[in-house]
Amino acid sequence: MIVAIDGPAGSGKSTTAHAIADRCNLTFLDTGAMYRAVTWRCLDAGVDVSDDDAVSAVAERARIEFGKSADGQTVSIDGRDVTRQIRTPEVDRNVSVVSAYPRVREAMVARQRELGSAGDVVAEGRDIGTVVFPNAEVKVFLTADAAARAHRRAVQREGGDAGCDAGAKADAAEEQQILRDLVRRDKLDSSRKESPLKPAADAHMIDNSALTPEQVVQQIVDLMEAAR
Ligand code: C5P
Repeated sequence: MIVAIDGPAGSGKSTTAHAIADRCNLTFLDTGAMYRAVTWRCLDAGVDVSDDDAVSAVAERARIEFGKSADGQTVSIDGRDVTRQIRTPEVDRNVSVVSAYPRVREAMVARQRELGSAGDVVAEGRDIGTVVFPNAEVKVFLTADAAARAHRRAVQREGGDAGCDAGAKADAAEEQQILRDLVRRDKLDSSRKESPLKPAADAHMIDNSALTPEQVVQQIVDLMEAAR
């Protein structure tokens, strides 16, 4: 079974997909980590991210692998473990430019299909249900209002586990900055020509602004059962 989870930045796709992978014994595929790894590689090598050809060449040559560690999943590019490095604000700021290049997308989608070919997968990203796995048995488009998404990200950055706890604390100025960045990234991701962020016609829409992570997981597990 393939479960496709798409949605804007910070909508809880990773948390949800992780939980489903654990509970239902599926392989977890974090496609955003792949675009982030290519972005990190370009920044590290001093490649100008506005240079489509140079960035595309990096993506086409890149060897991206996922692994496991005690804390969860690891990602490496060209033999370097970049699990932590791909989550910096600098990568956040540049990833939407990198991921809009058609050749970058082509290379990543080919690798994603290869990683998914083993069978049971829960994949999360922006174009999983529309482009990567259009025949996925279950497609979900996960959303939450922008303020809730920014709040969760801010709490996570401070080392907390926000889940859907609106009462958790975060630095207000940082939260405002995260909100601006999320909104900017969503705008770039939804307005690009190539595989824009949008729900597949047959996706189930789940707004998790007022749901707990467990409630979201349960809704998707129910959809999986109905699809079997
Ligand atoms: O999901 P995450 O926030 O880690 O994704 C980082 C960025 O990678 C997104 O903002 C988007 O630009 C890009 N992305 C994409 N297609 C995907 C997954 C992520 O374009 N399937």
